[in-house]
Amino acid sequence: MAIRLGDEAPDFTAETTEGTVALHDYLGDGWGLLFSHPKDFTPVCTTELGAFATRKGEFDQRNVKLIGVSVDPLDSHKKWAGDIEETQGTALNYPLIADPERKVADLYDMIHPNANDTLTVRSVFVIGPDKKVKLTLTYPASTGRNVDELLRVIDSLQLTAGYSVATPVNWNDGDDVIIVPAISDEDAKAKFPKGWNTLKPYLRITPQPNK
Ligand code: BEZ
Repeated sequence: MAIRLGDEAPDFTAETTEGTVALHDYLGDGWGLLFSHPKDFTPVCTTELGAFATRKGEFDQRNVKLIGVSVDPLDSHKKWAGDIEETQGTALNYPLIADPERKVADLYDMIHPNANDTLTVRSVFVIGPDKKVKLTLTYPASTGRNVDELLRVIDSLQLTAGYSVATPVNWNDGDDVIIVPAISDEDAKAKFPKGWNTLKPYLRITPQPNK
């Protein structure tokens, strides 16, 4: 069954390039980014895995643990890791799950038979510290993901988890935000001491509160 926002992220134990990993234990009290790849030794996946490795520090800064998955076996992942380091300039530095029996792929509905009945699509699940799914994204095999966008949405998810705000179109960390309509002007005075600009009663813009 498809996983929806707010669902608990299904737990599992799997073999990875960094040994056996139990998802919920691995994530601990932090955030997680679980992402699937269609296949080892494929060009787009090679660039994606390299980019996640190169930019792992930016996920660490946000207390987000990376974990990838593809349906190829562990010995294949280990051989492919050499190509990733050679061509992308950074060695794998997060676990890549070997899922030849498709246990994780099925648990997270990562195989979309009308796209391809054996390979996983490019799924993304952002998991919060409460182990609930905060974001899902699905890309086809032909389109690589954008690490900047993943970091951007994580910034939004983490900000909006802590403040009564929402982030507008094309928002980036540091930009102004929107006071959620559920907050009255009276309550907003205490929560947003920097003030706000009311464009409409439902559209109130305020500086990012944690900056
Ligand atoms: C790729 O990663 O390049 C890829 C994987 C599966 C199908 C097509 C492309």
